[in-house]
Amino acid sequence: MTATTIAQCLKLGTAALRQQDVPNPRFDAQLLMSHATGFGRLALLTESERPLSAEEQAAFDAMIERRCKREPVSHIIGRREFWSLDFHVNKHVLDPRPDSETLIAAVLGCIENKAAPLSILDLGTGSGCLLLALLSELPNARGTGIDISRPALDVCAANAMALGLSDRVRFLQGDWALGLSGPFNVIVTNPPYITDQDMGSLAPEVARHEPHGALSGGLDGLDAYRRLIPQTPRLLDPNGFIALEIGQGQVESVGALLTDSGLEIDGIHNDLAGIPRCLTAKPGK
Ligand SMILES: C[S@@+](CC[C@H](N)C(=O)[O-])C[C@H]1O[C@@H](n2cnc3c(N)ncnc32)[C@H](O)[C@@H]1O
Repeated sequence: MTATTIAQCLKLGTAALRQQDVPNPRFDAQLLMSHATGFGRLALLTESERPLSAEEQAAFDAMIERRCKREPVSHIIGRREFWSLDFHVNKHVLDPRPDSETLIAAVLGCIENKAAPLSILDLGTGSGCLLLALLSELPNARGTGIDISRPALDVCAANAMALGLSDRVRFLQGDWALGLSGPFNVIVTNPPYITDQDMGSLAPEVARHEPHGALSGGLDGLDAYRRLIPQTPRLLDPNGFIALEIGQGQVESVGALLTDSGLEIDGIHNDLAGIPRCLTAKPGK
């Protein structure tokens, strides 16, 4: 029997995904084929007539089957890029989102001396993407990542190790900043902020495969901000600042929580779609 070529398999895989209404079926089939064969997406074109080995074919078919059940590609291949770094991800952590790079750019824009020995706190660290991306840009900074989820902490610890940043970071299980002592020069957080109403209309990839505790922000999406913001002023260095990711339409309500806690807003940072995605604030004088 003649073995199936990359092109033939891609066609069948794409058709199977399309039948299940998976968005961008050809793109996803190519990503999964890259993973099965080790070829980059460009090489898949030049090698399109190459027959797949039995192992490659079985691996590709199994991955297409998982994707048909709307498991995210990142979970199937076990990784996701953020800030040009490779992050291991699984069902215990939120997939790093491109929008969250807004926070990284905002924080870096607020730091004049990138070589300073800064201390950074990340509340709700998940995969560790925010903290580790910052440490990768700030060579003398040290970080503390907090998460309530023990399995998430295993993921961020593995990411720190893989990125060669373990010696500058510690990960602790905790309920936001309760019981933590400072001071920190920078506090970052991307808490769960999806409203109860929006939780009902999430894509199956998110609703079925990402942790509820990383997504749900309660009735108005602000539950986590209400709890964690008042905990932060005592932890901030007098010249420090906090950067918070926010959901669409939350700029005023989260801004009010910050000022109610004695913090002074000093920046609103838009994502690539022009939506306010991050607030920065510093201790009030
Ligand atoms: C939206 S995810 C953000 C993950 C990661 N920082 C990112 O930007 O991709 C929120 C994270 O907060 C964590 N979390 C939820 N409630 C928490 C709490 N009470 N204390 C600490 N972490 C919490 C969740 O486990 C999850 O990892």
